[in-house]
Amino acid sequence: MQLQSIPLHLVVIGGGSVGLLYASRLLLSGQSVTLVTRTREQAQLLTQAGVTLRQLDGTMQKASIRSNPMEDGLPQGDLYLLAVKQSDLDAILPDLRHLSAASRVLALQNGMGHYEKLTQVLESRQCFFASNTEGARRLSPVEVEHTGTGLLRIGPWTEQDERDPICNAFVELANRCGFQAVYEDTIKPFAWRKLLANALINPLTALFEMPNGMLLESPHTVTFMKELFWEAAAVAERCGEKIEERDWQEVVKICRNTSRNISSMLQDIRRRNHTEVNAINGYLVQKGRETGIPVPMHETLLRAVLLKTDMVKGKGEAAIDLF
Ligand code: PAF
Repeated sequence: MQLQSIPLHLVVIGGGSVGLLYASRLLLSGQSVTLVTRTREQAQLLTQAGVTLRQLDGTMQKASIRSNPMEDGLPQGDLYLLAVKQSDLDAILPDLRHLSAASRVLALQNGMGHYEKLTQVLESRQCFFASNTEGARRLSPVEVEHTGTGLLRIGPWTEQDERDPICNAFVELANRCGFQAVYEDTIKPFAWRKLLANALINPLTALFEMPNGMLLESPHTVTFMKELFWEAAAVAERCGEKIEERDWQEVVKICRNTSRNISSMLQDIRRRNHTEVNAINGYLVQKGRETGIPVPMHETLLRAVLLKTDMVKGKGEAAIDLF
């Protein structure tokens, strides 16, 4: 399908590193984008100053942007790129409920649980999911750095009879904007593999306060990661996903390709925010309990990240109802 046949108006929801990366790249390629932010302050700053993207080669590019705060409701759009954390999804669900039946939502969250939430308020044919391994770092509310190349896989949770024309057009568009994007008939197997990568890279980088690539520099962290990988793989397999040695190699590749990246979990810890650990390692712990697979290492990591979050925030963050 030719892109020209579907002019897309894109709405990016979330002004964190992923939201700013997508919005700026799309705008710089001449696309129509509105960015919806959590705070009115960030929307005002973006509208006044524009959004600046620091490219991988260090060059800076700036684009004007239309930005609204979430409390003003969602603007009209063909495709909504949902770039908020899993834990912030609940707050946006009432607004998504009012989207036109012709609109599509592309969920960019790490972790699991978003499929169940989105299909409570939207028809499943409207919901698409991305497995994204691009690295990005928010430098300020109006500035983002692209820190590593990756692959953007997009698709429905389970196979549909036909490719969705809006999502298909977005895949073409993303490729023209310099992302490496592919349309997958089902995203579920990729979501599981991305979960495994995030369940290793994110908590370890957050606890040890190191960029992704440094995890590969010590045999101790590599051994630790490998043990975590196979523990999580046993849960994935019990949930119907066959995991192989080459999937471990893929995690190593993500670490290498995003070696300079400060993982989203470490960025959250540094900003004294809550993290996505409940939707990542917490999900594995929960599924492990449901399926009878012990995951003591992931359980320990979950507790350690929640404890660290409490410490940096200076107050208690409730773990999901596990303990
Ligand atoms: O959450 C993140 O930071 C990213 O998913 C990834 C791929 C681990 C890169 O840092």
